[in-house]
Amino acid sequence: MKHFTLHQLQVFEAIARSGSFTRAAEELCLTQPTVSQQIKQLTKAVGLPLFEQLGKRLYLTDAGQEVLTVCRDISERLSQLEMTLADLKGLKQGELRLAVTTTAKYFVPRLLGPFRQRYPGIKISLKVTNRQRLLERLSENLDDLYVLGQPPDNLDITLRPFLENPLVVVAPHNHPLAQEKSIPLQRLAKEPFIMREPGSGTRMAVERFFAENRAAINVEMEIGSNEAIKQVIVGGLGVSILSRYALALEGTKGPLTILDVEGFPLQLHWYVLYPSGKQLSVVARTFLEYLLNDGKHLAAQVDLAVSSKS
Ligand code: PGA
Repeated sequence: MKHFTLHQLQVFEAIARSGSFTRAAEELCLTQPTVSQQIKQLTKAVGLPLFEQLGKRLYLTDAGQEVLTVCRDISERLSQLEMTLADLKGLKQGELRLAVTTTAKYFVPRLLGPFRQRYPGIKISLKVTNRQRLLERLSENLDDLYVLGQPPDNLDITLRPFLENPLVVVAPHNHPLAQEKSIPLQRLAKEPFIMREPGSGTRMAVERFFAENRAAINVEMEIGSNEAIKQVIVGGLGVSILSRYALALEGTKGPLTILDVEGFPLQLHWYVLYPSGKQLSVVARTFLEYLLNDGKHLAAQVDLAVSSKS
């Protein structure tokens, strides 16, 4: 056991995460023979195979799973050590690992600039993915903090709502209902609807709302991207329900408009969360405080900008 090295564990973690020796080699700027050699030595030290290849896919063996868990613990402890040392030196420096849903990308990245200006030593990495993948990342403890709109209710997490998340009905500006007031939900239900992909938090909120109101959705198409949904709406394929933040840059004076449907906007919230047992690094705690104070005001201005462009 004592013969394996941190470097071998780092190579192993990259393969386990990416599912491929080639991608791990690219990510770590190593040659493939070096990667294979590192894994050979690690396998020898462990005394059991770490991967098995079935067809084209690479799977972790039970021993591989155990090693991966330890890898993640070690990397977590090392980054904590880095943060603690940075704190001891009296500097706010280190790395902040954020993961946000594809819809939160319309405001979280904007908050990073002012934060970095305040703490120039901090390196930030930001993952943007849908709700389902975000929750997988959370259960693998890959990031410091997570921002999403539909929190899970079955996980042991610390959850802080920090901002409103209005969901609105988006249509092309020349839509026949664009000038109508208080459009009944049953009327909206007849429109061809562009739906986010399974695993999306927006989709979850939309389906819940229609089920609660006993209305059927006339799904025309499923798309895994808010930006592509906006484009097909402009192209006349249908309407959709999106967070108002998704219109942050263009507002509703351009090709898109917001329909005045009864019950809308749906008033949801944005949450920041992390696993309850997690010991937050100094950097993560600093960002959390920033988000709950100044950050949330800056983000609210992003949404206000949509209203003022309406
Ligand atoms: P989504 O999530 O981007 O997966 O739709 C939005 C949300 O967090 O509510």
